[in-house]
Amino acid sequence: MLTVKELNNIEGKVIVVRVDFNVPHKNGVINDDNRVVAALPTIKELIGKGARVVLMSHLGKIKHKETPEVIAEQKKKNDMAIVAPCLSNLLGQEVLFCSETRGEKLLDMVHSLKNGQVLLMQNTRYEKGEEKNDPELAKLWASFADGYVMDAFGSAHRAHASTYGIPEILKAEGKPVAVGYLVEKEVSNLTRCVDVKDEDRPYVAILGGLKVSDKIKVIDSLLKKCDKILIGGAMAYTFSKALGHTIGTSPCEDDQLEYARKCYEDAKGRIVLPVDSKCSDAFENWTSVITTMDCNIPEGMEGMDIGPKTIELFTNEIKKAKMVFWNGPMGVFEQSEFTKGTIAVCEAIASLKGAFTVCGGGDSASAVKQFGYKDKFSHVSTGGGASLEMIENDGHLPGIDVLK
Ligand code: 3PG
Repeated sequence: MLTVKELNNIEGKVIVVRVDFNVPHKNGVINDDNRVVAALPTIKELIGKGARVVLMSHLGKIKHKETPEVIAEQKKKNDMAIVAPCLSNLLGQEVLFCSETRGEKLLDMVHSLKNGQVLLMQNTRYEKGEEKNDPELAKLWASFADGYVMDAFGSAHRAHASTYGIPEILKAEGKPVAVGYLVEKEVSNLTRCVDVKDEDRPYVAILGGLKVSDKIKVIDSLLKKCDKILIGGAMAYTFSKALGHTIGTSPCEDDQLEYARKCYEDAKGRIVLPVDSKCSDAFENWTSVITTMDCNIPEGMEGMDIGPKTIELFTNEIKKAKMVFWNGPMGVFEQSEFTKGTIAVCEAIASLKGAFTVCGGGDSASAVKQFGYKDKFSHVSTGGGASLEMIENDGHLPGIDVLK
């Protein structure tokens, strides 16, 4: 695969860069610019080479099946315009913004770009054809590109017009397509969690999050690679119920009980489940909080975090690890009462000496950042869904495979 560093003779050429600027934002304010910062090395490289840089990204979700009024509302909420000043500040140069995703205005702005100038296009999902990888749309966007760089790791699991259609067309036309610095870094770190070497054992995975059904493929894949899988978060209650324990009002996917039971049995001791929980009498506005003595949760109570015995159990497993892959918080860490399990996992991973430690994006990456452990990990991925799919699919993602 060509890398952005190897992309030469691009002075004056229009290079379309797919970035992932799907940033958390509220009322026009970006709450976390991590993804914009992560794209800077690639953008700077292209500016330095005198390319005319056109950035494309999605922001949020736009449901094109809704009524025109709802779509208009969603577009207003997810207007990419908020990212241009943020990027401009970080880059230290002007960033032009085009409020259109097609038409004369966009083409004029692209064609008037000077060497080293940067143009950010409106949210790719303003287009109905983006998520369908509509060939007409991909052709339109590819028509003004002399080359393409994929630096949207967080979106590399999506075969959309901007992540798959454009490079497919350009490749067929013999134009250069390359990976950016962020994608290169993400792929090399996550590949290590997929192609496991002996020196990286014991390899411990930690999974959390709400649904077993979302993680079935990743659990199956990790069971082939890992020595231990520690399961916390809400998905642990489905396992717990499947093994005959009581779970009170904790979330549970009843249609996954059979899978959970069989998966646990087949793992022959390699899946480690919570042995106690911190529970409350409601998810919000609770009036009572208890810690259970064992894995049974009493009626009327809901599991909100792993308990102290589980923290000790998980910490002891993590201590033995040479490699760790973590995805999904251990509890409802957004509420201060239930942060302990997630912080304990951060702490145990941070205390490892000489181990290779990866946080696979999403909510766990937010927790790692929020609790101040980001620098203690070997790698914190910018992609939640993408890093999981990379593990599930043995290192393959459509938005990256298309560049090969
Ligand atoms: C993410 O935030 O995980 C990526 O930007 C992908 O977003 P999506 O799930 O809306 O495709």
